[in-house]
Amino acid sequence: MALWGGRFSEAPADAVFALSRSVHYDWRLAPYDIRSSLAHLSILESSGLVAKEDAKSIRAALVKLSSEVLSGKFVADPEDEDVHSALERGLTQKLGAIGGALRAGRSRNDQVTTDLRLFAIDHMLEIAALITQLNSAILNKANEYVNDSAPGFTHIQHAQPVSFGHEVAKHAQAFSRDLERINDWFKRASVSSLGAGALAGSSLPLQPEVTAKNLGFESVFANSIDAVSDRDYVAEALFIFALIGTHLSRIGEEWTLWASTEFAWAKVADQYSTGSSIMPQKKNPDMAELARGKSGRLLGNLVSVMTMLKGLPFAYNRDLQEDKEPFFDSIDTLLLVLPAVTGMVATTNFDREKMALAAPTGFSLATEIADYLVLKNIPFATAHEAAGKCVALCESTSRQLHQLTDAEFEQVHPALDGGVREVLTVKGALSSRKTSGGTAPKIVAEQIKKTMELNSQHAKKIADRAKAFSEMMSA
Ligand code: ARG
Repeated sequence: MALWGGRFSEAPADAVFALSRSVHYDWRLAPYDIRSSLAHLSILESSGLVAKEDAKSIRAALVKLSSEVLSGKFVADPEDEDVHSALERGLTQKLGAIGGALRAGRSRNDQVTTDLRLFAIDHMLEIAALITQLNSAILNKANEYVNDSAPGFTHIQHAQPVSFGHEVAKHAQAFSRDLERINDWFKRASVSSLGAGALAGSSLPLQPEVTAKNLGFESVFANSIDAVSDRDYVAEALFIFALIGTHLSRIGEEWTLWASTEFAWAKVADQYSTGSSIMPQKKNPDMAELARGKSGRLLGNLVSVMTMLKGLPFAYNRDLQEDKEPFFDSIDTLLLVLPAVTGMVATTNFDREKMALAAPTGFSLATEIADYLVLKNIPFATAHEAAGKCVALCESTSRQLHQLTDAEFEQVHPALDGGVREVLTVKGALSSRKTSGGTAPKIVAEQIKKTMELNSQHAKKIADRAKAFSEMMSA
């Protein structure tokens, strides 16, 4: 059913209808559309624009329609243009002409963005909860390996040894920032647009603040022209999703590398691996690869919406309908990827011995020699030069740093006495890096504990919000 037609003498051409139609994807806004209709009905009733008895039957029909949508009894038909027109058809089929009463003071322009905001909040909460679960998996895994050493890398070359718990836990910092970002996003997303009408507000005695409260929004629009045109909350959410995707892709890359035969650090659980149709021996980390690969579409969806919004005139233009598919796609993608990555992280085991053996190789303790000299008041540039000489001496004689003789050390620099041997162990190197945020196991354990606490605070906040949201939806 179309919601317009009075001034037209001909029906739209098939191609026009086909291009305009959005109900095949915006149908998922139906529960939010019904809920915002209930809020709109309340204000129409309290302002005396809809009679009490009529309001009662419209409310009952909306509630019935809601359960029919949920059970699949009521579905969009091929004639319906979008979710709003399909639901109005449902209502008028039940009530006759009074089904059209809800259109007073409301346009699809303020309606669609109100629905989309509710949808966005609901799904953002779901994604945020999944991120806290991923963070728990990361932090628990990190905790298992706090006292295990591994080479740390720059340029994928051995740089300095680190606690492997430190290496794993770093990912939780990125996701904690994502949770902070989501928390901040709510301020701008939780704004009601209902009452903005087509663009100019309403001549009817509606009370947008009351409707906003009814729908659980934190605030209400300040400018009706902006209210119907603003999709910043979609663009911002898509940026957050793209960044989450980027963070997931970096886990994916690391896991893929660590599971390779050359590294052989990571043993990805069978449950989270896949095989090959031709090579019977293969066990591939496809979940890690998909986490890496899906980041492409998450970024693409952001670019798609930003491009659509760029230079778009105010107020409503049909271009805005193009906000939905990329938005839905990013949400669906994360709802698929996050649990898979969480499971993969939780079930991967690492070869402690192999990592520990690799930790001191590649002269990764050379910085310790330089720092040892600095502690003896030698300027760092001189210390760096001396440590470099030790490495060159080792390379030309195929030895490791700790295999140089006392005489050789002293020859390189007189301050390099026997004490240097103490720092030439991975254990010594790790525990000496005890400034805050450093890799000393004691410090790493503290970092993990703090991040776990922060993560539980986020989880609690999200659960509280989700509870309030679902209460609002069923009110
Ligand atoms: N399906 C439309 C959308 O998603 C709803 C708003 C249509 N408004 C209009 N004036 N044509 O944007």
